[in-house]
Amino acid sequence: MKRTEIKDALQMQEFDKEINVKGWVRNKRGSKNVAFIALNDGSTINNLQLVIDLNVIPEENLALMHTGASISATGNLVKSAGSGQSVEMNVTNIELIGAADPEKYPLQPKKHSLEFLREIAHLRFRTNTFSAIMRLRHAMVFGIHKFFNDRGFYNIHTPLITASDCEGAGEMFQVTTLDLNNLPKTEEGKIDFTQDFFGKATNLTVSGQLEGELAATAMGKIYTFGPTFRAENSNTSRHLAEFWMIEPEMAFYDINDNMDLAEDMLKFLIQYALDNCMDDLQFLSKRLQEEEKNKKAEEKSMELIEKLHFILENPFQRLTYTEAIDILKNSNYNKKGKFQYPVTGWGVDLQSEHERYLVEKHFKRPVILTDYPMEIKAFYMKQNEDGKTVRAMDVLFPGIGEIIGGSERETDLNKLLKRMDEVGIPQESMEWYLDTRRFGSVPHSGYGLGFERLMLFITGMGNIRDVIAFPRTPKNCEY
Ligand code: 4AD
Ligand code: MG
Repeated sequence: MKRTEIKDALQMQEFDKEINVKGWVRNKRGSKNVAFIALNDGSTINNLQLVIDLNVIPEENLALMHTGASISATGNLVKSAGSGQSVEMNVTNIELIGAADPEKYPLQPKKHSLEFLREIAHLRFRTNTFSAIMRLRHAMVFGIHKFFNDRGFYNIHTPLITASDCEGAGEMFQVTTLDLNNLPKTEEGKIDFTQDFFGKATNLTVSGQLEGELAATAMGKIYTFGPTFRAENSNTSRHLAEFWMIEPEMAFYDINDNMDLAEDMLKFLIQYALDNCMDDLQFLSKRLQEEEKNKKAEEKSMELIEKLHFILENPFQRLTYTEAIDILKNSNYNKKGKFQYPVTGWGVDLQSEHERYLVEKHFKRPVILTDYPMEIKAFYMKQNEDGKTVRAMDVLFPGIGEIIGGSERETDLNKLLKRMDEVGIPQESMEWYLDTRRFGSVPHSGYGLGFERLMLFITGMGNIRDVIAFPRTPKNCEY
């Protein structure tokens, strides 16, 4: 018999025909005459309840069907008498596919801490929390492609191995086939990369933007969506060494067009999650409330679904870095010394505590900060007339801080060359990039959305290691 997925079984209205389901046992309980198995197959957060009449199916047949075992069950759907589910299955035939030794299987039908689950990340797909997150992750990937495709953007695959450092922060993983125990040296005693695989030093990309600009200045509107790698040694709940980034790049867009697109995109994605993933969101909302139940009222997060609606209903607050510094500097928070990094004056880079203060305490909505000091931003950003700020735009979200970083790009070849020189980027390595400014240069803009930061927001999870299947962080690379 053809297998029916549990998601479809739970929607069914016909009760007179037998169907077959397959999945993993979440829980088994029973009495003298009847046993109940909660079955999950990953197609939905919801389990199908199997009802087994022990007068028809001998109890020995169920002996190995413990939590974690895989089984196949055939029977009729009936309207459920119990609360919380619409239908259940009266089983006529049940078979074990793969046993799971209850003495050894680490996931039991009880609450496990997220820390514990991170240690058995190879099995955490089997939990409600993690499978809900993974289904939402899928929906967001799909929603992102839909958003851009519907608006005439082309998806471009930019390289993962590169010889350039887009952000200029020097946080790159090197890629080499040289024998680290026996490195070839030049006459000056430096490593001789001409003998390396690519004949030069290479690294994993920190961003697809520079290559994206090449495509955008010919194809109009493009986006990249790929893994990015940063060897920054920050062990925080918002940093990964390998994360996914969405980078649209648009010819003829100025910074305002760029901000409009970013705001539209984030709202579209939130709406997409609400429209397509309500079961998983409701589950995650309950999870969060449970996790925070002992917190004081003022420390509790806004209810997850309400929070998502809140973003949809409020325009993002747009202001300049200079205005933000004034607000922060004069805030009671700053005066009372509540910031770990006090805001002393113009020019400092904002810490996530500052970003979150603006969003959560001051404006109480997402914020887009623009026109940052040139010194703290990447070389490619368009310089303002004041000679000290650039047309950057960072989108700041509640609970997250920076979720998007972007800018209008510098189009003036001479300004770009001067800036590259100041920050020490050798011109000869970037001639290919500079050609976009030499031939038919146009105003253009783009930004990068950190996919896992978006997932943190959508799922209400607190640690970025819990919204990616196989997190890579300092001193941690399993699987
Ligand atoms: O602000 P960033 O560094 O910007 C860029 O890479 C630009 N090239 C983007 C562009 O204009 N095309 O990174 C963009 C976003 C951040 O706002 C953040 O959401 C995310 O990427 N991000 C990280 N996410 C997880 N772990 C890390 N280590 C991250 N670093 C940045
Ligand atoms: Mg940034």
